[in-house]
Amino acid sequence: MKKITIAANWKMYLDELGSIDFINKLNAEKELFSSHDIIIFPSHACIRSVKDYLKLDLKIGMQDCDLHKKGAYTGSTSINSIRIDSCIVGHSERRLVYEENNDIIAEKLKTILSSEADPILCIGETLEQKDSNLTKSIIDNQLSILPKDLHQQNLTIAYEPVWAIGSGDVPTNKYIHEMLSYIKNRLKSLYSTADLDNIKLFYGGSVNANNINELISVELIDGFLIGSASANFEKFKDIVKQIKL
Ligand code: PGA
Repeated sequence: MKKITIAANWKMYLDELGSIDFINKLNAEKELFSSHDIIIFPSHACIRSVKDYLKLDLKIGMQDCDLHKKGAYTGSTSINSIRIDSCIVGHSERRLVYEENNDIIAEKLKTILSSEADPILCIGETLEQKDSNLTKSIIDNQLSILPKDLHQQNLTIAYEPVWAIGSGDVPTNKYIHEMLSYIKNRLKSLYSTADLDNIKLFYGGSVNANNINELISVELIDGFLIGSASANFEKFKDIVKQIKL
């Protein structure tokens, strides 16, 4: 059976004390959490503390990064500012709230691919786009920024319909399967088998302990990008407990 990855996108939910408290609770349940493939995405300002307190062999990532690696960019954070395993790029909150377009996201993706971290590129349609039957063309457009050759670097595509994020409105397994199959076929037309072996597909949007069991039966899902439920220790634990090894 493939190992499902749980990516915990803490967004701006936890401050430094809250992050440390969460990590202490994870440390106290080594057996459960160490056996799973988990990536924690704290706020930038909390990454150092999370790394210092974490005693388990889990991965740590950044929720976003600047497209530049160094220089006069007040208030921004470089992918090279701290050693991390992964970085999210193109999250819908960055696309919508911070008005990041494909050009910016393409530059950020390039920056991450040239660093030590593995990118998680988020894609997905809004409700309006879905209702206008635009989902597949939106996916095509968001995937159009992918580099021609991945040189066998790791890449994750997280399919996160915007209407499912934070709404409790989760698509059916059939819908997710259809979208992930579509994405997979697009990737197949772009990349060699060697590159495809290093690409994972995640689903994200209102994942919680009540629906993960059902969602996990979507064969193409390699992992989940989880927001609010991942920032609450008890909810997170309930989710992880349901991932069979
Ligand atoms: P949610 O967020 O789990 O709170 O819906 C998912 C995400 O934004 O990645």
